[in-house]
This record gives sequence, structure tokens and C-alpha cells, in this order.
Amino acid sequence: MNIRVNEVGPRDGLQSQGKTLTVDARARLIEALVGAGLNNIEAGSFVSPKAVPQMAGTAELFARLPAKERVRYAGLVPNMKGYQLATAAGAKVVNVVLSVTDTMNQKNIRMSLDETASVCGAVVERGRNEGVDVQAYLAVAFECPFEGLVDPEVVARYASQMNAAGATKIIIADTIGAANPAHVQRLLDLVIPHVGAEKLSCHFHDTRGMALANITAAVGRGVLEFDSSIGGLGGCPFSPGATGNVATEDVVLLLNSMGYDTGIDPLDLVPVVKLAEELTSVPLGGKSFRWLSQQYTKLRGDIRHGS
Ligand code: COA
Ligand code: ZN
Repeated sequence: MNIRVNEVGPRDGLQSQGKTLTVDARARLIEALVGAGLNNIEAGSFVSPKAVPQMAGTAELFARLPAKERVRYAGLVPNMKGYQLATAAGAKVVNVVLSVTDTMNQKNIRMSLDETASVCGAVVERGRNEGVDVQAYLAVAFECPFEGLVDPEVVARYASQMNAAGATKIIIADTIGAANPAHVQRLLDLVIPHVGAEKLSCHFHDTRGMALANITAAVGRGVLEFDSSIGGLGGCPFSPGATGNVATEDVVLLLNSMGYDTGIDPLDLVPVVKLAEELTSVPLGGKSFRWLSQQYTKLRGDIRHGS
């Protein structure tokens, strides 16, 4: 059975780095990911460069990404202006983010929960009319850093709402990495009757080291798509303890080992982790990275990145 691994390092990972990468460097990273077999990549966001300077120049980036039949590049947008910029830049997949608490939306995009829900709904509907896939992220779906534990019924309600509007995917996002496998099962058991497991994807951060366990729990409920970030790239240098998404190499190794087909060889990711390290000047690598690197050296020789 296939499970899709959706790479979000170039957006979720890079947006929180202390070092802002040039468009050229961002393109190199994405080219390396494509070369390693990633077919679904969140390449950047179309947001205010004042809010997130790391994502400035995403339109320019989209113009130079390698066009390949098998690869889908997504752009995250916070509002209709972002949707217009993304589609003008050629994005065929657009991600909207609906944080399921009021405070999180205010902090992130300066809108209330109601306003955000209506803006996301409008973007989803416009995408449906214009042949653009709009995927809806439900952020802080488990716990909000400002409001604490989130009522799963609220998540189920917004999942249904976005699904009814025509979102092509609903992504349950553990933005701060606070979920555990029992919580994942409880939440999915409430959401799946509304939207169906095949419509869902999950996005886990590894702050408490439970992301792989959470993925395993979600697989057990029939979820067949997961976000991850190369080398576990992410986290904020200004908030100690915050970590990035679950590492792509760990997710691929886990799923392949369990007998699922991700279409990716985890050894191909080793040089990409090295490249991401060099570009960001941050030490990277998931839980399996040391072992994968040893395997790589044994089977293929020196690790040369960027090839
Ligand atoms: N892309 C680029 N610029 C945008 C934009 C977009 N999607 N939406 C608004 N802007 C610009 C406006 O044109 C305006 O520009 P100006 O100052 O040159 O006139 C400026 O941003 C402020 O616009 P305003 O509507 O007043 O927004 P705001 O100041 O309340 O900020 C957001 C709201 C959503 C634009 C901003 O908070 C943002 O981009 N947040 C993204 C956060 C993010 O990426 N979080 C992580 C992923 S969820
Ligand atoms: Zn995230």
C-alpha cells in the first residue's frame, strides 16, 4: 500500500530559521529533495515578507523550480491576496491554515477564528472553481500554546466545514508537538466519520519525541499521508525546546520498514540532510540519521551532498 510523504522543510522548516536563505539556496534544497524522490513538496509561503522575511521571494522561487510531471509544489497562503500571488506564480496546490483557536489565529495572522474560517472557506471555494487544489490545515489541533488543550469536537467541526467547502485534503496539525498516540486515535475517531480517512493527512512536530509513535497510531486509523521535514528542520532559535517537524528520513524508514510504499529510498535522503545542514548552518538529522549515514557510507561511500 502507498503512503504519501509530503515534504514541508522548505516552508515550515526554513520559516523559523535564524538564517534567511537566498532564493537560490532554497531552490537548491528543493531540487535535491526532488532528486531524492520526493513528489510532494511545500515549497514556500505567500505571506507578508514583514511577518516572515525567510519566505520573501517565493514567487521567484516557484518560477525556477524544476517542472516535473510527478512533482506537486504547494504554496501556503494566509489570505486571498496570498492565493492570488500563489496562483499567479503557477502554484497548482495551495495550503490554507485555520488554527482552531482564536488566540492562535490572532497571533499568527491577526484575524479571529471566525474571520479565518471564512477567509479559508472563500479560498477553498475559489480554488475549486479555478481548478486549484486547496488543502486545509487545521493547526494546533491537539493543543494550543495559548489556550491549552483543544476540544476534538471543534476540530471535527472545522474539518467538516473545510471538507464541505471543497478542500482537497484536510491536514490535522500538531503545530507544537504536544500530541500522543492515544490522543491521535481519539481525535481521528471523531474526525474520520465526517471526512473519511482517505481525505486526511497528519502533520506532527517532534517536540516531545512522540511524532513517530503518533504517525504509527494514525496509520492504524487508515491515514495514508504525512508531512515531514528533511533532517527534522524547523523549530525556533528564539524559543528553546521547540523543535521541527518529524524528520523525513525517519518517516520514510518507519513506513518502508512496516511494508508501506513511500517510493523513496531513505539512503537517498542522507546527502539532502547534509545539504540542508550546510545551507542553514544548523546541525540536522532525525533519530535514524546516524545509522542511515553509516549504511550510506558502507554501501555508497563518501556522502556528497548537492549532487
Ligand atoms: N502576501 C504578501 N503580502 C501580504 C499578504 C500576502 N499574502 N497579505 C497581506 N500582505 C501585505 C499587505 O499588502 C500589506 O502590505 P503594506 O504594508 O506594504 O501595505 C501588509 O502585508 C499588511 O497587510 P494587512 O492586511 O494589514 O495584514 P496584517 O499586518 O494584519 O498581517 C498577514 C496579516 C496575514 C499578512 C501577516 O500576518 C502574515 O503574512 N502572516 C503569515 C504568518 C505565517 O506565515 N505563519 C506561519 C504559517 S501559518
Ligand atoms: Zn508545522
